[in-house]
Order: sequence, then structure tokens, then C-alpha cells
Amino acid sequence: MAQDKGSELPGKPVRESYVEMVQIVRPGDANALGIAFGGTVVAWMDMAAAVAALRHARRPVVTASIDNLSFLSPIQVGEFVIIKAAVHYTHRTSMEVGVWIESENPLTGERKETTHGYLTFVALDEQGRPAPVPPVIPETPEEKARYEEAKRRRAYKLQMREERP
Ligand SMILES: CC(C)(COP(=O)(O)OP(=O)(O)OC[C@H]1O[C@@H](n2cnc3c(N)ncnc32)[C@H](O)[C@@H]1OP(=O)(O)O)[C@@H](O)C(=O)NCCC(=O)NCCS
Repeated sequence: MAQDKGSELPGKPVRESYVEMVQIVRPGDANALGIAFGGTVVAWMDMAAAVAALRHARRPVVTASIDNLSFLSPIQVGEFVIIKAAVHYTHRTSMEVGVWIESENPLTGERKETTHGYLTFVALDEQGRPAPVPPVIPETPEEKARYEEAKRRRAYKLQMREERP
């Protein structure tokens, strides 16, 4: 599999950036139906993804884009929210982080997939300019598939940007 190497930094496996965060949906996080606000869920995703990007780059990072965000099922007040994130694709200064969220019923332990999305972060140097990141090394078949998927997503986005009037 061809690596999209943009820097001469040594590579890092996906597992080095892996993050798992747990939140509880409180009444203030929820709407009148008693389910978590989308914006609150996105803020949790951004936080977990930023930790993954920082672990990978070990530099300050900023969110450049949030793509393919899907809310698959609602999360109820009082449920646990399990947020998993990892860098699964890198280019020169940017990293795509995949985030997957499940809800967990605290009494039964039942889990449901609720949300997923892809966030791109850019690492910054001391002057606040984009800085090279270590290439990510996908190891498992799943990580390799995600890497190739992210590469295609990036190519598609660049093409869309070029075609924009
Ligand atoms: C993200 C940001 C640093 C990019 O700066 P820039 O001057 O456009 O940088 P460049 O054109 O040199 O691109 C740098 C990298 O960012 C990527 N990038 C820029 N805009 C992007 C976007 N909208 N989506 C995905 N990647 C993007 C480029 O593809 C490039 O990646 P590569 O080096 O891996 O090939 C700049 O736009 C910025 O600071 N945005 C605001 C970030 C912010 O405030 N976030 C919310 C709070 S954290």
C-alpha cells in the first residue's frame, strides 16, 4: 500500500493516537425530547479528535473541517456516551481523524452506534503556520481500508474544490 508521505518524520501507528472518552448526557446537554443536542455531540467529537491529532502530531492543531457527519440514533439523558477517535490518514500537514460514538444504557449495558464522522486537523508550527506531521502507519486490515477510504475522500474534496465556480 502506497503511503502518502509528506514529511521525513518517522511514522507512527494508528494505535498511538487512539482515544476513548466517556461522557454522561446531562439535562443541560439535551433538548425538550430528552435527547442530546447535535451540537453538544459534535463538541465532544471535536474534543476527542483533537486529543487524537495532538497525540499523533505532538504539536498544536486546529480543526480544518468536519465531514460525513451522521447521526444514526438519538442519545437519551442519563446514558453514557462512548467516544472513540484515532488518526487514520495523514498527508503533509493534515490528519484525518475518524470518530465513532456509541450510547450505553447505564442499567443494562446495552450499546448502540449513534454517530460517526471524519475531522481533519492541521498541525501548526511556532509561527502558527501548517507544519509537517509524522506519516500514520495503518497496521490491521481495517486500518488499511480506512486509510484508503480517507485518501479517496481527500481526492474527492480537492476535486470538488477545483470545480467550484
Ligand atoms: C486550517 C488552516 C491552518 C489551513 O491553513 P492554510 O493557509 O489554508 O494552509 P494550506 O493551504 O497550506 O494547507 C495546509 C493543509 O491544510 C489542509 N486544509 C486546508 N483547508 C482544509 C479544509 N477545509 N479541509 C481539509 N483540509 C484542509 C490542506 O489540504 C493542507 O494539507 P496537507 O499539508 O496535508 O496537504 C487555516 O485555514 C486555519 O487556521 N483555519 C481556521 C482553523 C480554526 O480556527 N479551527 C477551529 C478552532 S480549532
